[in-house]
Amino acid sequence: MNRDPICMKNDMLKTLYNRQHLEATVARLGREITAAYRGKTPVMVAVLKGAFIFMADLVRQMDIPCTVDFMVVSSYGKGTESSGQVKIIKDLDTNIEGKDVIIVEDILYSGITLSNLIRLLRQRHPASIRICTLFDKPERHKVEIKVDYQGLEVPNEFIVGYGLDYAEIYRNYPEIAVLKPSVYSGE
Ligand code: IMP
Ligand code: MG
Repeated sequence: MNRDPICMKNDMLKTLYNRQHLEATVARLGREITAAYRGKTPVMVAVLKGAFIFMADLVRQMDIPCTVDFMVVSSYGKGTESSGQVKIIKDLDTNIEGKDVIIVEDILYSGITLSNLIRLLRQRHPASIRICTLFDKPERHKVEIKVDYQGLEVPNEFIVGYGLDYAEIYRNYPEIAVLKPSVYSGE
């Protein structure tokens, strides 16, 4: 692979959203959540790994107290709408019964993982569950999901950076970018 390990920018075809754009979007989501949860202390649940940077920035844009927790999940039988199982790799430490839960996701793609996760967490009887996702690929949804706090729509392209990976790398790239095709083809 003709990849310069020193400079990630060389691997990028184009920037979709720069730092300022991301910062403004996360600030807007923080204001929306702050206004909606005044007087409450929501449990912010990030779905790892993709949401780790978004979560860190989002909670600092909220002007209300909150707690944070993290989950790692994987869906069985991805791609089939009927398969409603989600496998928990790492569960919450928090007992969410009676709590206001906000699920923090990096990107909504098919929606299968998220819809399974919501169903699973509902069984624990939280007071409420809402969804906050930074990116949404509307062309690719397979299951209907109501997003309460939505960041940006992205076109049907594979994006990396700001927590999102390709083969586990580029999560630390500070902007949202599209990779050069040569990176995928391993040229
Ligand atoms: P789904 O909604 O269950 O299909 O899964 C969404 C997950 O797919 C996200 O949490 C990401 O980890 C991954 N994903 C989807 N689209 C992209 C992309 O464009 N770049 C990086 N990861 C993506
Ligand atoms: Mg991923």
